[in-house]
Amino acid sequence: MFQKPKGTYDVTPNESHAWRTLETIIHETMHQFNYHYMRTPLFESSDVFHRHSEHSDMVTKETYDFQDRGNRPLTLRPEGTAGIIRSIVENKLIQPGHILPVYYIGPNYRYERPQKGRFREFYQFGVEVIGTPHPSLDADVIILGFRLLQKLTINKPRVLLNSIGSLDTRKKYLQALISYFTPYKDELSKESQHRLKQNPLRILDSKQKEDQIIVSNAPKIIDYLSEEERTYFEEVCLLLDRAEVSYAVTHTLVRGLDYYANTVFEFVSESEVLGTQNALGGGGRYESLVQELGGPEVSGIGFAFGMERLLMVSNLSNPSSVVDVCIITQDASVYAYAYETLLALRSSGIHVFYDFSYKSMKAQLKHASALGATYALIIGEEEYKKHTIAVKDLKTFNQTTINQHDIHTYLLEKLGA
Ligand code: HAM
Repeated sequence: MFQKPKGTYDVTPNESHAWRTLETIIHETMHQFNYHYMRTPLFESSDVFHRHSEHSDMVTKETYDFQDRGNRPLTLRPEGTAGIIRSIVENKLIQPGHILPVYYIGPNYRYERPQKGRFREFYQFGVEVIGTPHPSLDADVIILGFRLLQKLTINKPRVLLNSIGSLDTRKKYLQALISYFTPYKDELSKESQHRLKQNPLRILDSKQKEDQIIVSNAPKIIDYLSEEERTYFEEVCLLLDRAEVSYAVTHTLVRGLDYYANTVFEFVSESEVLGTQNALGGGGRYESLVQELGGPEVSGIGFAFGMERLLMVSNLSNPSSVVDVCIITQDASVYAYAYETLLALRSSGIHVFYDFSYKSMKAQLKHASALGATYALIIGEEEYKKHTIAVKDLKTFNQTTINQHDIHTYLLEKLGA
C-alpha cells in the first residue's frame, strides 16, 4: 500500500467540514475588515525566498528546492509573505498614500521534523498590509488576529508582543547579547552555541531548559530601542489596552524570520493540545522586504496562522447530518421516474441522497437512517403508475403518500426550509 509522504496528512470527509467552516469564518471576517483575497503560486523562483538578507533556519535549511526541466531554480513556498509581496510588486498594486490590505489561504512546505502541530505541508491563513507605518495600523492588525481567535471561541487567546527595533538598534543589541552570552558559551545547548555564531537573537527563544536560565538574565531589547521606537511601541500597547486585547510584552520574542523590524507578535492560547508548538500564529512589521523584492521603499505588517493548529484548538466539528431525504427504489422499471424526482428536489435546495446501488429496501432504509436523513421517499411500481411518492418519517416510521407534483412543497414545509 502506498503511504502519504512524511509530515503530510489527508483531509477525509470526517474532517473536511471543520476545514470549510474555518475557511468560511476567515472569509467573512476578512470581508468585514475590508481585506482583499489574493492567490499566488505554490512555487516561486528560489531567490524570492533565498534573498541575500535572509539567513533564518527556515529559509536556509528547511525549504524544498528543486530545478524544473528547464533548469530554473524553484522553491516550494515555506511561507506566504514573500510570494505575496513579489506579486504585489509585480502587479503594481501599491498606490502611494494608500494602504493595501490583503489576505491569503494556502499550503506551505517546510522540511522540518514532524511532531504534533508541526507538518511538512501545512496551511496558513495570513494577512499583509502595505503602507506607511503607524501604531494604530499595527494595533489594528493584531486586533484582527485576536478577534478571529475570539470568533473561533478559542480558549483564552493571548498575544505575545515585543519590539525588535530597527536594524541599527538590533546591531547594538546584538553586540550586547554576544558579550552577555559568550562567558556562558559552554553551558548553552549545542544549538544555541551554534546560534551564538550565526544568529544570537534566536538564542532568546530557545526551548532548551539549560538555555532558559541564562536567557532570563540576558539584556532586553526594549532597553536598546531609540526614543522614537519606544514611543511607537508604547502607542501600540495603549491601543491594545483600549481594545481589551489580552497581551503580554515578551522580551524574548524575536521571531524566526529575518525580515522583521519593530513590532513583532505571536498568538497563543491556554489550550494544552499543542504541547511545545503552541504558537497559533505570528507576525510583525517589515521595513525592507518590499524594496528587496523590487518594490518601492514602503513598510508592511502582517501575520499568519497555522490552520491545522487553529483546528486543533477550536471546536469546529462536523454537522450531525447534511442529508434531508433519501430516495429509495429497487425497481429497475421506475428508476427514471425516481431519478426525475431527485433532479426536481435538488433544484429546490433540498439535500437529497439517491442510492444508486438499488440494494434491498431494508438495506437502503438502514443506510438512510445512518445518514441521518429525516425522510425516506419510497418509489415502486405503484407510485410510478399513480404519479405519487411514499414518504416515510424515519423517526416515527409513519408513512404518507404525496403527489409527485407536490413533493418539494411538502418537504420544504416539513423541513422548515
Ligand atoms: P511563522 O511564524 O513562520 O510566520 O508561521 C506562522 C504560523 O504558521 C505559526 O505560528 C504556526 O501556527 C504555523 N506554522 C509554521 N510552521 C508550521 C509547520 N511546520 N506546521 C504547522 N504549522 C506551522 C510566517 O510564516 C510569516 N510569513 C508570518 C507573517 C506574515 N509575518 C508577516 N506577515
